[in-house]
Amino acid sequence: MYDGIVKVLLLGSGGREHAIAWSLSRSPLLTKLWAAPGSDAMAALAERVDLEALDPDAVARFARENGVELVFIGPEAPLAAGVGDAARAAGVPVFGPSKAAARLETSKAFAKDFMARHAIPTARSLCCEGTAAAKDAARALGGKCAVKADGLAAGKGVIVCRAFPEAEAAVDLLCATTAGKTLIVEELLDGPELTVMVLTDGRACAVLPPSRDHKRLHDGDQGPNTGGMGALAPAPVPAGTWKRIMDEILAPTMAGLTDDGLDYRGALYAGIMLTQAGPKLLEYNARFGDPETQAVLPLLDADLLTLARDCAMGELIAGVIPAKPGACVAITLASPGYPDSTKAGTPLDLSGAEGLTGVLIFHAGTQRGAKGWIATGGRVLTVVGRGTDLADARARAYAAVAALQVPGLHYRRDIAAKALGRTVA
Ligand code: AMP
Ligand code: GLY
Repeated sequence: MYDGIVKVLLLGSGGREHAIAWSLSRSPLLTKLWAAPGSDAMAALAERVDLEALDPDAVARFARENGVELVFIGPEAPLAAGVGDAARAAGVPVFGPSKAAARLETSKAFAKDFMARHAIPTARSLCCEGTAAAKDAARALGGKCAVKADGLAAGKGVIVCRAFPEAEAAVDLLCATTAGKTLIVEELLDGPELTVMVLTDGRACAVLPPSRDHKRLHDGDQGPNTGGMGALAPAPVPAGTWKRIMDEILAPTMAGLTDDGLDYRGALYAGIMLTQAGPKLLEYNARFGDPETQAVLPLLDADLLTLARDCAMGELIAGVIPAKPGACVAITLASPGYPDSTKAGTPLDLSGAEGLTGVLIFHAGTQRGAKGWIATGGRVLTVVGRGTDLADARARAYAAVAALQVPGLHYRRDIAAKALGRTVA
């Protein structure tokens, strides 16, 4: 527990960081919030600083010179750049794992090896160097496989294939478009997906309400994978499954971090598939999910700043983080062309949703122009409905989307529909 006053530097600029800034701002402990680079929307909650968020020395210097008491790292890129390590070395507490521990996200080969060594249930896979080896592995699985780029790919590094020609094309595409030539070829698993995010100081872990992302671009889980087109929380978890997730995935993960000497203080994201044979881990992320965070944080009945500071200081108390009753549904609105090429410049009139109860709008790709908000591309907004249950939350979220004037923005009409037993929006 920390009962002092806290000055925080938040790194990032997306919808997730807008939600984190919103949540931190509600803390009675917060005395100052800076955001780098932040966004025009976040400027209402935080002072934006002109700081290269991927430069470890620059972040450490700013933190030291300004008496920052917590660096809160939102996205994966600063983790991969070693920003957390530099700030920590300068004596500043950091919410965000070390660069070495963030490899659980930044290298899928490293993550699969970690899962194998710590007996964490996951899909069988082969780590392949070059296209020929990857195609052989895909052929051996009859073309039914997930082809994954080893390194970071902004949610676009996984292609799920049902036949060999598709898998062959996926191997060629990922080799051509991602940094390395190392690919993971994995057996296909089937079942509903679940996101379990925990906070940890490397020793204890505190569990957030489970959530569910909607990865595919189009309704009915069709189209390419994206960074995430919508989320719901809390996600329903079948009886008995929660204990298996704790015992078979989270407990060995925590033990593995200790055994491997990895310094992990931050959010750990487990992307899980609930298969007939039990829960299996698809991936780790070394940070909060986007858009899951936008659906989860409004439900917390706990102070995010205290929890983050406890993680950074190694003082976290293990357990389940209390949640308020009710549910959230988050809908991502993306620019035309997302996730490939995206078109910027769409004017956005958000005034129709102002004042709606149970609605939060988090900005991801926007700028405030002379005449109002404009889209800057990629994922643009996350519209969150909060209600007494999932159906109420969903109705509020879609009513808010309908009240916006956002010509051309793409969004799914079926977020949370399946969880409510509905096949159509
Ligand atoms: P990942 O980044 O590894 O979580 O993969 C992104 C998405 O691809 C997941 O959320 C799943 O929807 C899908 N996916 C990944 N691996 C598999 C697999 N082995 N079987 C089926 N779908 C998968
Ligand atoms: N929504 C998935 C992610 O944040 O990686």
